[in-house]
Amino acid sequence: AIPLKELFKDYFPIGAAVTPQQANLGTPHGQALREHFSSITAENVMKPDALQRVKGQYTWGNADQLVKFAKDNGMLVRGHCLTWHAQSPDWMFYDENGELLSKEVALAQLEEHITAVVSRYKGDVYAWDVVNEAMFDWDPEGVIEYREDSPWYQMIGETYIDSAFVYAHRADPDAKLFYNDYNSIFSWKRHKIYNMVKRLKDNGIPIHGIGLQGHWNVNTSESDIRTTLDLFRTLDVEIQITELDVPVYLSGDEPGAVEYNSTFSFRQKAAYSMIFQVLLDYSDLITNVTFWGIGDDHTWLDRPDRKAFPFLFDEDLKPKPVYFEVQKLVQNQ
Ligand code: G3I
Repeated sequence: AIPLKELFKDYFPIGAAVTPQQANLGTPHGQALREHFSSITAENVMKPDALQRVKGQYTWGNADQLVKFAKDNGMLVRGHCLTWHAQSPDWMFYDENGELLSKEVALAQLEEHITAVVSRYKGDVYAWDVVNEAMFDWDPEGVIEYREDSPWYQMIGETYIDSAFVYAHRADPDAKLFYNDYNSIFSWKRHKIYNMVKRLKDNGIPIHGIGLQGHWNVNTSESDIRTTLDLFRTLDVEIQITELDVPVYLSGDEPGAVEYNSTFSFRQKAAYSMIFQVLLDYSDLITNVTFWGIGDDHTWLDRPDRKAFPFLFDEDLKPKPVYFEVQKLVQNQ
């Protein structure tokens, strides 16, 4: 198999989300990372609750290790994530009585956190997911814009997004700053992201890109992806695919399996071929493609009764048939 980073070198860096245990050359994961990937993202250890679980006490060890691994092996680092309603410590949102903090206190704490984290990795983390998943996820009419159950929104209103970008830019003016979200390709959500990013740009807020998480599936619509990329292109921002994975099931209630089979392989080859053809077609716009994991042994999608098999590498980190399908596709460009 041709290393992925060789295969895609004329198009975009290719990344993986990793744990600190995986980012170690003494493991098969570390070896696969070094061979195939040119970018890494911390799956969890750069999130607010990992870096500052206790107010004022930063725990850098795991994140530092990932950054060192990337530097030692010539890889880029995407930072994930600075501002999110989930995986954030309670003190960022609530006082000792469980009441939401005032806008002033919340913003001061956010500024402190973002400044500390971005400054520490200045020059090492080249792109940050500054705000994660701020838009409302599911309303069939597509009218509720912001995720109103986010404590950030409740404390500050939508301008917490603006502030987060300003703080991050101050701490590292050279870092590329992204808004990152999922389900972004759907007609009922993409216009919300478009409008929000347009608002930021119109207000002179330093935002450089949109992260499409890419938690897609074997039914994902090609035209939904293309339409979204065409729309976002008009914002004059970069696009990164930040969390790509394609589980093998047609629907949420399809019975599970613990073995990969030829039906899964067939579906997954078709889906990944479609996806990578689109990404190659838009490679002038797309500046990073990152999988949300390395091989099928470790993925947030697995359940005890059902494995998802979402990647190009199997549980032993061997390239799957879908890997060779993607390789053929790139070679035929
Ligand atoms: O750290 C604790 C550990 O101490 C404890 O023993 C263990 C028992 O369950 O849980 C550990 O925390 C887990 C954490 O991952 C670290 O492994 C959490 O329960 C678990 O919920 C958490 O899941 C992560 C999830 O984000 C949380 O929202 C997934 O690993 C991670 O892949 C996932 O990533 C998110 C992106 O950040 C944003 N986009 C969606 C994506 C998938 O959900």
